[in-house]
Amino acid sequence: ISSVRAQRIASLQWDALEEDMRACRACGLCEQRRQAVPGVGDRNARWMFVGEGPGSEEDLRGEPFVGPAGRLLDNMLGAIGLDRSQDVFIANAVKCRPPHNRTPQGAELDACLPYLQRQIELVRPRLLIALGRPAAQALLNREIAISAARGRRFERNGVPVIVTYHPAYLLRNPQDKAKAWEDLCFGRRLMAGACAS
Ligand code: URA
Repeated sequence: ISSVRAQRIASLQWDALEEDMRACRACGLCEQRRQAVPGVGDRNARWMFVGEGPGSEEDLRGEPFVGPAGRLLDNMLGAIGLDRSQDVFIANAVKCRPPHNRTPQGAELDACLPYLQRQIELVRPRLLIALGRPAAQALLNREIAISAARGRRFERNGVPVIVTYHPAYLLRNPQDKAKAWEDLCFGRRLMAGACAS
């Protein structure tokens, strides 16, 4: 990515930022998607969840996590006393739906990172939660297996980051749901510590 582009994005406020995402042609994902899906939620949230990329339902409605994986995410939020209307911001590592919901490629993650980075700067969350491997890759700037990253506290520019399974993975592998719940409890403990200090 050109640093000129990254610097320009880094200066945008919310409306201009979302406008820019909708007009973006920085990678090939813009060719087949219906619309970009910027993000949703409380722009002053303490909790920020980052998914992989829009699926078909999200591509249609312009909002992240509104399909089957989104319903599970809502249950996951509920399990730690959160809901998406308050104190939660939800975004994706890539804002445009990859064809046939394939995993976003490294170059696509890189091209979209300035948008995610700017969203993080504007929200200023107390905790970032990467849902699945591409989100972890985007937030941590390296490839890491979820099994190796769970239960650890990382940082991105001073913001704590934790990693858990993607809800779509959990729909296919419900036996791992208990681990995801553990991860969310870990997040809640980190937040409680952050609040106490
Ligand atoms: N999966 C994601 O990673 N993000 C969405 O918005 C929906 C499904």
